[in-house]
Amino acid sequence: MNAAYDFDTAIDRTGTACIKWDRYAGREIIPLWVADTDFASPPEVLAALHERVDHGVFGYTRAPRALVDEVVAHLDRTFGWTIDPGWLVWLPGLVSGLSVCCRAFAGPGEAVLTSTPIYPPFLSCPTAMERELQTAPLVRESGGWTFDWDAFDAACDERTRLFLFCSPHNPCGRTWTEAELTRLVEECERRDLVICSDEIHNQLVLDQRPHRPTATIAPEAAARTVTLMAPSKTYNIAGLACSYAVIPDDSLRRRFKAAAAMIVPHPNLMGYTAALAAYRHGGPWLAAQLDYLRTGRDLVEAAVADTPGVSMTRVEATYLAWIDCRELGLEHTARHFEDHGLGFQAGREFGSPGFLRWNFGTTHANTREAIARFRRAVEAVVAGRASAG
Ligand SMILES: Cc1ncc(COP(=O)(O)O)c(C=O)c1O
Repeated sequence: MNAAYDFDTAIDRTGTACIKWDRYAGREIIPLWVADTDFASPPEVLAALHERVDHGVFGYTRAPRALVDEVVAHLDRTFGWTIDPGWLVWLPGLVSGLSVCCRAFAGPGEAVLTSTPIYPPFLSCPTAMERELQTAPLVRESGGWTFDWDAFDAACDERTRLFLFCSPHNPCGRTWTEAELTRLVEECERRDLVICSDEIHNQLVLDQRPHRPTATIAPEAAARTVTLMAPSKTYNIAGLACSYAVIPDDSLRRRFKAAAAMIVPHPNLMGYTAALAAYRHGGPWLAAQLDYLRTGRDLVEAAVADTPGVSMTRVEATYLAWIDCRELGLEHTARHFEDHGLGFQAGREFGSPGFLRWNFGTTHANTREAIARFRRAVEAVVAGRASAG
């Protein structure tokens, strides 16, 4: 256990309007699906929320100047990215940001491109906004999942206007290299595509390579990129709904704001309060959380490496492991594991049947129990095959 912070003591989340645990209420299934963690937020965030509640008045609000200044300072401190405060557009969530981008940058009859596997709303937002969805598969190489530029090329046509990008990548856990980002920007520039870069997991980097915001790759990148960010994943405050877009280009920002106007609400007071405290004071807690997540990642990685018929690539960032179970030959992969007490998110939802996404943002005790059940679930497939044969 980290001396200052306790991630080991399980907090009972049942009965707290928590979608992760509610899904399996009353069933002996460990929930390892939706991307939040089972950890309490940093003490400074809890104290700031208490203080705000004690004030007792919760009227209309907007992003406090202190938070705007803190985000500007945070981006500079963390990524060396100097932004103008006027580039910020506040949002209640990143999924709204994805949809607003689809409405703003692709017209009716035009298309939005993304790479699969991908966080499910990347697949549903374009269609929900009545834009055509185009997908280009990523390819698995020895170093992990990466772009297949021929597939990227084949997936677009003259109707393509926007690329929805995830960096770091959910579910593949990649922290993209500078070379990959540079090539991506070149490819998007060549086709005059706007880039929507969802960087919600940017502070959850587990390995050496730092996260690099897409917009910082080159001035041309900044001119065509809408970056979506939030403290929500990092500090486990997703339920407080406070996120933002960084849009350096005036024309893109105007179009984005026009598409959001009168539909997308502002974040709420508690979201602003938590975000400010998290960015201002959350550093030491985050460092401890990252250490804890690294150990969780290593436990899952070792168990998967040790289990025949399944595999995964390294999780460089996020607390999500992407498990390839195709060799098991199951028709309903996630359901098989549910039957063995494990609530993974089905690969099918990400555009990749036969895979599972494993959220290890939980206590190590929970992860160890999940690993034991995982082994038994895989053994059951092998035993089933032997008896059938
Ligand atoms: C890549 C990515 N984008 C967006 C979200 C959700 O964002 P929000 O809750 O702010 O809409 C998630 C949550 O899992 C995510 O992984």
